[in-house]
Amino acid sequence: MTSSTQSQGSQTGSEPGDAVPQAWNPVAALQRWAAWVPIRSLSRRHRRRIKQHLLSLSERDRYLRFGYPATDEQIGKYAMSLDLDRDEVLGIFNRRLELVAMAHLAYAPTPQIPGKPAMAEFGVSVLDKARGRGFGARLFEHAALHARNRGIDTLFIHALSENAPMLAIARKAGAVVERDGSESEAWLRLLPDTVASHVGEAIERHVAELDFQFKRHMRVLGDIIDGVGEVRGQFEEAGKTAKE
Ligand SMILES: CC(C)(COP(=O)(O)OP(=O)(O)OC[C@H]1O[C@@H](n2cnc3c(N)ncnc32)[C@H](O)[C@@H]1OP(=O)(O)O)[C@@H](O)C(=O)NCCC(=O)NCCS
Repeated sequence: MTSSTQSQGSQTGSEPGDAVPQAWNPVAALQRWAAWVPIRSLSRRHRRRIKQHLLSLSERDRYLRFGYPATDEQIGKYAMSLDLDRDEVLGIFNRRLELVAMAHLAYAPTPQIPGKPAMAEFGVSVLDKARGRGFGARLFEHAALHARNRGIDTLFIHALSENAPMLAIARKAGAVVERDGSESEAWLRLLPDTVASHVGEAIERHVAELDFQFKRHMRVLGDIIDGVGEVRGQFEEAGKTAKE
């Protein structure tokens, strides 16, 4: 048995009456904490950043994201037409407040067909430089939580069959993937919402807001320090010229 299966056993295989039914695993807790990234819900005032993010995608990434090699003009139209009241757009910012990853959770327009499962479609993009760090998977996980808390019971992804990373994320989250030639569809059934799922989402939202404000203040502070450095440099330069 590997160490990972051992730790899983200690969390899930406990019997009633065990002295420590769910022992706290500090290594697993540390790993979860290290992998955590703040995800923000984007609003209308983020449209420019959304557009900028999508415009920075390469031609191939645009093809994978939209199913066709979207031109700058088409991307501009898409960014401007996003229904940010009905849908959810989620973002991950780096320290310089650049939108490095974003996901669009599109809700089917209400009313949905009675008796049919309520659905939302997930689309995502991560800038090349930020890939392989789990951002895509985190956005998917967060979107699933968000959808679940709004009574959605199925998350849907339409991807090209060649899009191995996207399909890997969907499969890992438990989605059923159906391939139809060059295109694939993935369906993830969501659990009904609970008090815990709402609290989880509220905490994430709150911490992400704090993180964004912190980064904003650090950026302003950075700009002030740069400004002071620049002014000091100009004074020194002026002093030298005056001596000469
Ligand atoms: C798809 C995309 C969002 C993934 O973003 P990401 O942040 O790099 O994804 P993650 O790091 O969360 O996970 C990628 C997973 O794919 C796996 N993966 C990467 N390349 C792979 C490949 N060629 N074959 C199989 N799996 C692969 C990784 O190992 C990882 O799985 P793991 O967590 O089990 O190791 C990103 O590649 C992207 O923006 N692509 C362009 C737009 C796009 O395709 N959007 C999806 C269509 S809606």
